[in-house]
Amino acid sequence: MSNYLHGYSSEEQKRLLYQAKMTENTIYQDVDFSNIKDVLEVGCGVGAQSEILLRRYPELKLTSIDLNEAQISVAKEYLKGKSYCDGRYEISKMNAEFLDFGETEFGGAFLCWVLEHVPSPKKVLSEVRRVLRPGSPVYITEVMNSSFFLDPYSPHVWKYWMAFNDFQLEQAGDPFVGAKLGNLLLSQGYKNIHTKVKNWHFDKRNPQNRTRFVSYWKDLMLSASDILLKHGCVSEEDVEMVNKELNDVSRNPDAVFSYSFMQAQAET
Ligand SMILES: C[S@@+](CC[C@H](N)C(=O)[O-])C[C@H]1O[C@@H](n2cnc3c(N)ncnc32)[C@H](O)[C@@H]1O
Repeated sequence: MSNYLHGYSSEEQKRLLYQAKMTENTIYQDVDFSNIKDVLEVGCGVGAQSEILLRRYPELKLTSIDLNEAQISVAKEYLKGKSYCDGRYEISKMNAEFLDFGETEFGGAFLCWVLEHVPSPKKVLSEVRRVLRPGSPVYITEVMNSSFFLDPYSPHVWKYWMAFNDFQLEQAGDPFVGAKLGNLLLSQGYKNIHTKVKNWHFDKRNPQNRTRFVSYWKDLMLSASDILLKHGCVSEEDVEMVNKELNDVSRNPDAVFSYSFMQAQAET
């Protein structure tokens, strides 16, 4: 994962914590683990979603895995300070494509913004199914990067966005995987599959949220600037212009920001 798009800097780790809080309502409004005692979280990052899962489901015991040790140590530190998490979670370094768990160990699974980064989402879903008991729910939240819309037209933002998505594809990730979740789940034998497109759409009816989202979006896009610069996919000028154009959009009273992602739920 040395070419992981967002990198593992402390800014990125803070960004993940902020992102999870800001998007909590949209992501969790259709998630229900209230009758589940043992959930596997795949690709937990810095524990941002782990904290939310433990807070929202006080009966739940959480087993979280991530490929990166730096993320895991931040996650452990983050959860350690929260009394309601005490004794209710374990976090291990593991590759989602080769889960080191036995069959039917868990009663549910949660995956958020991780399948987009793995070379084989099918393999991950096959592994997740193997370690879940029959009838267990799985919730998957994923990107659909072709849905991004911004007005006024911002040419450097688009140029950078193309480079961002191309780089992810070159690294064997998939910036459009959200749209494929139904097919992927079906291919791995999941049942009762439901997919829901969720949309963040902001215009002059909700200027405060629009400003907040454009600023969040700028951080998300620029989290990849180091790696995109390193690989010559964008120039320093492109990065500066992305910053400028998104600041201009933020100040424009007629601006429109729109992005859709997919949430799938299914059962084993
Ligand atoms: C964008 S972060 C999302 C973290 C968390 N789910 C959240 O929503 O805050 C993606 C995480 O997936 C992890 N990851 C990527 N490939 C993985 C793999 N094959 N197995 C386990 N974790 C992986 C990365 O290390 C990173 O921490």
